[in-house]
Amino acid sequence: MPETTVMDKLISLAKRRGFIFPSGELYGGLQGFWDFGPLGVELKNNIKRSWWKRFVQERGDVVGLDAAIVTNPKVWEKSGHVEGFADELVECKKCHHRFKADDIANSESHMANGRKCPDCGGELTQSRKFNTMFKTFVGPVEDSSSVAYMRPETAQNIFVNFDTIRQSMRLKIPFGIAQIGKAFRNEITPGNFIFRSREFEQMEIEYFVHPKDDEKWFEAWVAASHTWFTDMGLKADNLRKYEQKKEELAHYAKRTIDIEYKFPFEKGWAELMGIANRTDYDLKAHGLKYRDEVSTEEFIPYVIEPSAGVDRAALAFLLDAYQEVEGGRTTTTESNKEKEIVLRLHKELAPVKVAVLPLSKKEQLSSVAKDIASSLRNKFVTMYDEIASIGRRYRRQDEIGTPFCVTVDFDSLEDKKVTVRDRDTMKQDRIPIAELEDYLTEQLRT
Ligand code: GAP
Repeated sequence: MPETTVMDKLISLAKRRGFIFPSGELYGGLQGFWDFGPLGVELKNNIKRSWWKRFVQERGDVVGLDAAIVTNPKVWEKSGHVEGFADELVECKKCHHRFKADDIANSESHMANGRKCPDCGGELTQSRKFNTMFKTFVGPVEDSSSVAYMRPETAQNIFVNFDTIRQSMRLKIPFGIAQIGKAFRNEITPGNFIFRSREFEQMEIEYFVHPKDDEKWFEAWVAASHTWFTDMGLKADNLRKYEQKKEELAHYAKRTIDIEYKFPFEKGWAELMGIANRTDYDLKAHGLKYRDEVSTEEFIPYVIEPSAGVDRAALAFLLDAYQEVEGGRTTTTESNKEKEIVLRLHKELAPVKVAVLPLSKKEQLSSVAKDIASSLRNKFVTMYDEIASIGRRYRRQDEIGTPFCVTVDFDSLEDKKVTVRDRDTMKQDRIPIAELEDYLTEQLRT
């Protein structure tokens, strides 16, 4: 399959099957904003739940936070964002398209034609700084005294709450504070579907350590982050670690390693998440420090920050899971010649865990099947489908990554058993209805 078309196919599937579509599409959409539909929201929730379980619930040294999106603007002054959270922007004098100066400098057209507009060849303006924080006004008066910002990263709320959380939870270094939530950036060039958007979600941890231990913890967080992605099903060959060069580092970072995914665009590899050693930059900026109660040593902790985008992770998981099977996999005559799509998502991430399918729409079967579906809903996201042939219904489920399909047939009325089909192996097991929930629980666990 040529790589360039995989994105188009995925975007089409995402819309057709209710994962992701342009926000406000009824009115032509809004560039850089996306809506997550019924399956998209389940996928995103599963990603966030898995990340939270691994990095907060299962560890004794990380606690959570859900802070406000709009906060005191001083936070962003002190953090350096008001002054420095900016991209270099250039504009074409002819077609007025705007570009990031970096993108122009690195583009193929720049290499070939010099500094010209990549769209129309027109002359470009000198670059100027463009702050990518979204501004808003708090209260009924819209003047400079009421300006506030939509947070461009979740991290700063963590830093400014450092003392409050440390005291309330009686935390001792090393410890971390995690937050999952929306971030907003007025990106000059949003694009590549949900890869770069203007509203997105981040999963971030600020892990506070003694300055002498920063390298050890930095390495540990790079390894733990990489492992989470492979545990959640990303192919190791599609992931790599990229250490940022000195000139690429953010103003606060001593060291940053990006975990890159081989996306089917740009140069192939692009940032999925970053792990930064932010040193004592942020706590110092906010005038915060730490006192060890036992040794009475006072110091400003260093911060190791694993920071991942939920949307970008969702894109990587979807791309990695997307597979087309030439000639079809299902054995029914109507589908055995066509290409079939299978979304081989990790079971934990799959939006729907089980589909219940009566072999026919006959009342005897559908009433049993509906009862089964309704009892499974207690435990799993369950879909019921009785429309079209069984082969077509299997394919509909494969396309959205449902790990298990339960078929109710006429024998089920006699033997009180159903057939459970596994998405990946296509193996079919005959299971007593009374044991179905336990069977699925076990299968989804392993
Ligand atoms: N607190 C550090 C920080 O925000 P970042 O590299 O700017 O660092 C971290 O962002 C992660 O957030 C990125 O690795 C990416 O996954 C995600 N991200 C950043 N900008 C994004 C955008 N415009 N759209 C989607 N995801 C984005």
